[in-house]
Amino acid sequence: MAALEPVRRPYLEGNYAPVSDETVARGLTSRGAIPRDLAGVFVRNSPNPRFAPKARHHWFDGDGMLHAVHFEDGVATYRNRWIHTKAFLAEKEAGEALWNGITERPDFTNPRGPLKDTSNTDLVFHAGRLMTLWWLGGEAYVVSVPDLETRGTEDWGGKVKTISAHPKVDPVTKEMVFFDYKPFPPYLTHGVISATGELVHHTEIELPGPRLQHDMAITENYSILFDMSMMWDEKLLAEGRTKVGFFRDKPTRFGIIPRFGKGDSIRWFEASPCYMYHSVNAWEQGDEIVLLGCKIVNPLAGDVNNPKDVKAPSIGFLRLEPHYHRWTFNLKTGAVKEEELDDTLAEFPRMDNRALGRKSRFSYHPRIAPAETMFFDGVIKYDTDTGKQWTHRYPKGRFGGETVFAPREGSKSEDDGYLVTFVADEQTGDSELYILDAAHVDEEPVARVHIPTRVPTGYHSWWIPADDLAQQRPMDRHS
Ligand SMILES: [Fe+2]
Repeated sequence: MAALEPVRRPYLEGNYAPVSDETVARGLTSRGAIPRDLAGVFVRNSPNPRFAPKARHHWFDGDGMLHAVHFEDGVATYRNRWIHTKAFLAEKEAGEALWNGITERPDFTNPRGPLKDTSNTDLVFHAGRLMTLWWLGGEAYVVSVPDLETRGTEDWGGKVKTISAHPKVDPVTKEMVFFDYKPFPPYLTHGVISATGELVHHTEIELPGPRLQHDMAITENYSILFDMSMMWDEKLLAEGRTKVGFFRDKPTRFGIIPRFGKGDSIRWFEASPCYMYHSVNAWEQGDEIVLLGCKIVNPLAGDVNNPKDVKAPSIGFLRLEPHYHRWTFNLKTGAVKEEELDDTLAEFPRMDNRALGRKSRFSYHPRIAPAETMFFDGVIKYDTDTGKQWTHRYPKGRFGGETVFAPREGSKSEDDGYLVTFVADEQTGDSELYILDAAHVDEEPVARVHIPTRVPTGYHSWWIPADDLAQQRPMDRHS
């Protein structure tokens, strides 16, 4: 009898391995003084499974855990806590994992649903609340800051049960523009939450089938929604199998819709087939709309049509070869222009959110290391006005994450502030919070704050300025 193939769990090893303790550490020490004009909380979401998986484990499967550093008068405090999702609490009570991961066949007989909403992906602070979000479209969990206690779910008066990761907060109107997607109709929805946290617009967007859009973009007046060439294989989905395919014969489409437009007012622009996890920014420019993002031309690791002899890192079945890219859509002529802005592999781009939806100049892209899976060995600052770029390299063996822009108090210009990210040693687990001067990214860090516990590799982050923190609303408005 043949031996059973051992179950591989690469995302439970090295710095992908979860931590089991929830820690509070005050008065963190640092190499270089913590700047006094950095006031607020840096929060990062990440997958951190509490129980051993039932079978194969993908990095996307773990329970959401937040890691945060609170800066107040030059003093830093670290905290980490699991997000107490309904799934997390159900497994806590059961004392074991209750769901299969995404690389297993979904169990449609699971009374709690076939997939586990972990809320492990993204964060947004809007209308006085920090919310954690899930990449497949889940409930928005409200977490109080800085104690990181899960307070409940926000459903906007029962009108929006789930939203996708990566809603956009308009820096001028303070509206939050969001989308959600599902493997069943309606496949895509789009909406707007007002500055005070009320649903003010919600519409369905017609699509020919289920899609896998991970992000969106906004301009002053429009939203850009994606219909990309990597999507669920619809035939297999009908058989209850969740397999993703990349369809090279299908153009990627970008749907441009007025922020408050009904679904049928969307206008689709066709571009070359690709996938994109994250956009950088978009804005209006005369008759045109400019979109910046990280384009991947061959997004599946096992695709036999990928070019041979080209290696790129992957996360499970997903191949990571993202390049900084610009699409320009002409609203008058319908023309689409595409330009590759750099051939360096980089993802998880961030920028100064005060310029979101308006013409911006700078963005900060973690650089993908030449490794089998995803490690960021530095961060690139791009200047799209001049084409210049600067890179900050982390010490050998140390890898960072998404670098969030934190404006310094009194900041006047787009790169007047700091870049903040966790950096960890892959071998020892020694972890730091890096603070870089955004205006001088290639220089030595302003400060390296020592974190007294290991911070595993994670996903998205958010910077909550002290002023926003002071506007935090208790969780009793709708619930
Ligand atoms: Fe994301």
